[in-house]
Amino acid sequence: MINCQCVFKRLAGRNVLAGVDLQVTRGETLVLCGPSGTGKTTLLRVISGLETIDAGSIRVDGLPVASGSARALKGKVGMLFQHFNLFEHLNALDNIALAPRQVLGLSKAEAHRRAERLLDDLGLGDKGGHLPTQLSGGEKQRVALARCLAMEPSVMLLDEPTSALDPARTTQVASLVRRLKRDNVATVIVSHDPNFGALVGDRVMSLDMGRLVDLDDDVPCCDPVPGSLAHAAAAARAWRPASMSQAMA
Ligand SMILES: Nc1ncnc2c1ncn2[C@@H]1O[C@H](COP(=O)(O)OP(=O)(O)O)[C@@H](O)[C@H]1O
Ligand SMILES: [Mg+2]
Repeated sequence: MINCQCVFKRLAGRNVLAGVDLQVTRGETLVLCGPSGTGKTTLLRVISGLETIDAGSIRVDGLPVASGSARALKGKVGMLFQHFNLFEHLNALDNIALAPRQVLGLSKAEAHRRAERLLDDLGLGDKGGHLPTQLSGGEKQRVALARCLAMEPSVMLLDEPTSALDPARTTQVASLVRRLKRDNVATVIVSHDPNFGALVGDRVMSLDMGRLVDLDDDVPCCDPVPGSLAHAAAAARAWRPASMSQAMA
């Protein structure tokens, strides 16, 4: 479903992604954790086609992720942005219903029904008429999640989906992520919350020095680069908080 091969992305004079190999299959949930600035958001952005890559290849559902296939990929990949990126002039319902109407061709009534159902699922049934400025951070985050889910994508990329949520809302989001799994969606979640990661993830990985490291393995998951990956694996394992190790034991 998601297939990245030896992906390189250079930003501000350094290789933020330096040979990323990644496969995520249908129904699989990959959790990506690790310190800030290691390239987690960049990886999601290149998979979604929002950023170009400098070398390597990325395929989603067999289609190359490049500007040429943007139309074919439209709607297949849902991305929840770290900063939500809601349309400030639209209320919650219209934020969610817009793309299903414009991209999937749903009628206004159908798109609104879908949006209302999702708002209900996320505990926001009474917030459909609210503009983003009238919503709390956690409410905006859930509206942004509902906006992704409304497209029923086959790939979901969630950038810190629980950063603004309290534990009860986090549990709600976890159950939605498990629903994605049942619906055979390939999901990549960036999360700093080890409990959430352990709850929903089939695999937990970290980016270090531009390469992916499997936190469940003693060895890095990519081909070794002399002198760097032993350090990367050790750093990633050291980063994992004790609570995550316990939760995953
Ligand atoms: N548009 C950009 N231009 C220049 N540098 C960027 C840009 N986006 C991200 N970076 C840099 O790339 C690195 C990785 O960023 P990011 O992917 O946001 O990391 P993370 O999500 O793991 O915190 C950081 O050093 C960041 O400053
Ligand atoms: Mg980020």
